[in-house]
Amino acid sequence: MQLQEILYSQGFGTRRVCAGLVQQGWVQLYGDDAAAPPVLCTDAAHEVVPEGLRLRVQGVDWPYHAKAYVMLHKPAGTECSQKPSAYPSIYTLLPAPLRQRPCKGALQGVQAVGRLDQDTTGLLLLSDDGQFIHRLSSPKKHVPKVYRVQLKHAVTAAQVQQLLAGVVLDDDPRPVRAAACEMLGPNAIDLTLTEGKYHQVKRMLAAVGNRVEGLHRWRMGALGLDATLAPGQWRWLTPADLALLGSV
Ligand code: URA
Repeated sequence: MQLQEILYSQGFGTRRVCAGLVQQGWVQLYGDDAAAPPVLCTDAAHEVVPEGLRLRVQGVDWPYHAKAYVMLHKPAGTECSQKPSAYPSIYTLLPAPLRQRPCKGALQGVQAVGRLDQDTTGLLLLSDDGQFIHRLSSPKKHVPKVYRVQLKHAVTAAQVQQLLAGVVLDDDPRPVRAAACEMLGPNAIDLTLTEGKYHQVKRMLAAVGNRVEGLHRWRMGALGLDATLAPGQWRWLTPADLALLGSV
């Protein structure tokens, strides 16, 4: 694959911009020796094997990924929209190449797997792989998502039973059930949902007479939020992470 094409695939801009980056000396390539410094390449048409490639572009290391799969620790006060209305977009927390990866000819970048409310924190997955996004966000696939919920009022055993048995929300006569509900303390539960309705956790807790004061998603399928990621930080998913998600 030509170096300019690799840069384009990784989100470094239009083909013309990518060729320019190489020709103007902004791109270096690491070799097989992990300890060796990267080598400058100014030939935009230089043929490179992309798998395992590590680039250095404008001084920043960038490992080649055929598809992008990342986790973000979503902070409070951010919207999961490209066009946010009141708070900064979560996409501003990602580096430009992740926001510009080409998809069907457009530089649209990675997309969030479902959405979290502006005040919800925790695990958010993003990808440019449409099948992956569909598999994890489709209500039909029943991928369990675990939320740590802080409640205004002390939670009762009756409320837990109601959440497990099913509550009716205002937009659908069919009851929605929690797949699991664990009491963690007087005002905290872990709630597992396999659907993703609008404000589902908040509406379910309101339906049983309580109120959500804090909401944090810490697990999707078998994958937990990386505890080393501070709010606002992201990292690539590893093959082990992807295997965990594949097993859901
Ligand atoms: N349920 C909610 O109410 N809000 C979220 O952000 C996610 C699930």
